[in-house]
Amino acid sequence: MKKFYIETFGCQMNVHDSEKVIGTLESRGYSQVETPDAADLVLYNTCSIRDKAEQKVFARLQEFKKNHKGKQFGVLGCVAQQEGERIFEKAPHVSLVCGSASYNSLPQMLVQLEAGNKRVTGLSLDTEDTFETPVTRRDNPHRAYITIIEGCDKSCAYCVVPFTRGPERSRTAESVLAEARQLADMGYTDIQLLGQNVNSYRDPRGGMEFAGLLREVGRVPGLRRVRFTTSHPRDFGKDIVDAIDENPVLANFVHLPVQSGSTRVLAAMQRQYTRDQYMQRIEWMKNSPRSIALSTDIIVGFPGETEEDFQATLALLDEVEYDSIFSFKYSQRPNTPALRLQDQVPEEEKSRRLTILQEKQRGIQLRRNADYIGRVEEVQVEGFNKATSQWIGRTSQNKTLNFARGTGDGELTGQYLDVRVLRAGPNSLVGENTASGNALQ
Ligand code: SAH
Ligand code: SF4
Ligand code: F3S
Repeated sequence: MKKFYIETFGCQMNVHDSEKVIGTLESRGYSQVETPDAADLVLYNTCSIRDKAEQKVFARLQEFKKNHKGKQFGVLGCVAQQEGERIFEKAPHVSLVCGSASYNSLPQMLVQLEAGNKRVTGLSLDTEDTFETPVTRRDNPHRAYITIIEGCDKSCAYCVVPFTRGPERSRTAESVLAEARQLADMGYTDIQLLGQNVNSYRDPRGGMEFAGLLREVGRVPGLRRVRFTTSHPRDFGKDIVDAIDENPVLANFVHLPVQSGSTRVLAAMQRQYTRDQYMQRIEWMKNSPRSIALSTDIIVGFPGETEEDFQATLALLDEVEYDSIFSFKYSQRPNTPALRLQDQVPEEEKSRRLTILQEKQRGIQLRRNADYIGRVEEVQVEGFNKATSQWIGRTSQNKTLNFARGTGDGELTGQYLDVRVLRAGPNSLVGENTASGNALQ
């Protein structure tokens, strides 16, 4: 029996792709091992969103350059698609290079690898298929990902994804719903719908749009929480907020990447919305009766970003008061339109802006989280932290709420419990389970 090792970098799409790749390999008689040393086939599912992410896989491959006897190496995902056959030159011990748009052909590629072929590739982006496999390996028995749309048809000036994942392809609503029902039957209660831009979902058969699909998934019996990521503001309609308002199963958490608070920079980024249009969407959510938690992505130091533009982003943070943000220094990426832009922001200046931004956001999160003290929130229990002797819970708003309970409770993971919030930090809350009433030290 062949043994494989897989390491995954990058976003949730990649994490879930790996689950499907693992399922495909296992159904062909391969078994997964925990270290590359124990494996015959070593796979890296890679990310190329920023330069640092891309460098990781080459560092990994370098480790085995002189010491790869008896092993085969494969590079999957976004770096594979971006670098293609150049990977064979950079790392001659690699024998498989395959982008995400070619995963449906993995079984045939494995046959070629098994036959000793040294240069197996899957690099076409010319596909209308999505990667659906009856065999998906999921380690978490309570929470599962479902891909609803692959690829991206936007052309944000800084972004490699349209080049690494190809054009948008939506799955049929029928197959998404069948998977959601199957997962619910297996005991899953928490589902996350995935796509680079879920808002442009459109059922290739019936034409159903994202809000409709969300409503349908929210009605699948047995599901307690449904989330989705990621949303593009341009395609984010009020109907999505209406759907969340109507059904508490749809989690009150929305990730809506803004990238910049300056309309001028947004135009240079080719984001296709203005600051005002973005804020209108935020208003829809602020006006919702459900108190929807908000998170975002921000890039600092895009070419031409002035101090004034940066200040506009800081002011936006104050205006929106996000519950969390992911923030990055702009990184030049191959093939992207922004490569042509002059006026790069120096690296030290990007670092300065990032630090200021993150400090500001830390203060906002401290304030926002402090508002939860005294409230009772329902958490899904994710596990137990031995170091702190606390259970780890997650609220519908996607906040981590750790809590203690007396010993002898048995396994709580996967359960939904009410927890009273006692303390708040910038990144998590601490509380006690109201049923047991045990005080915390
Ligand atoms: N489809 C998602 C983006 C996925 S990439 C969306 O449209 O929101 C996740 C985040 O990485 C982006 O939102 C952006 O903030 C960041 N990012 C993408 N390209 C980048 C680059 N070249 N430099 C720095 N950050 C980048
Ligand atoms: Fe990249 Fe923009 Fe597509 Fe998101 S919407 S994946 S940032 S091109
Ligand atoms: Fe990275 Fe590809 Fe996801 S570039 S962020 S793994 S789509």
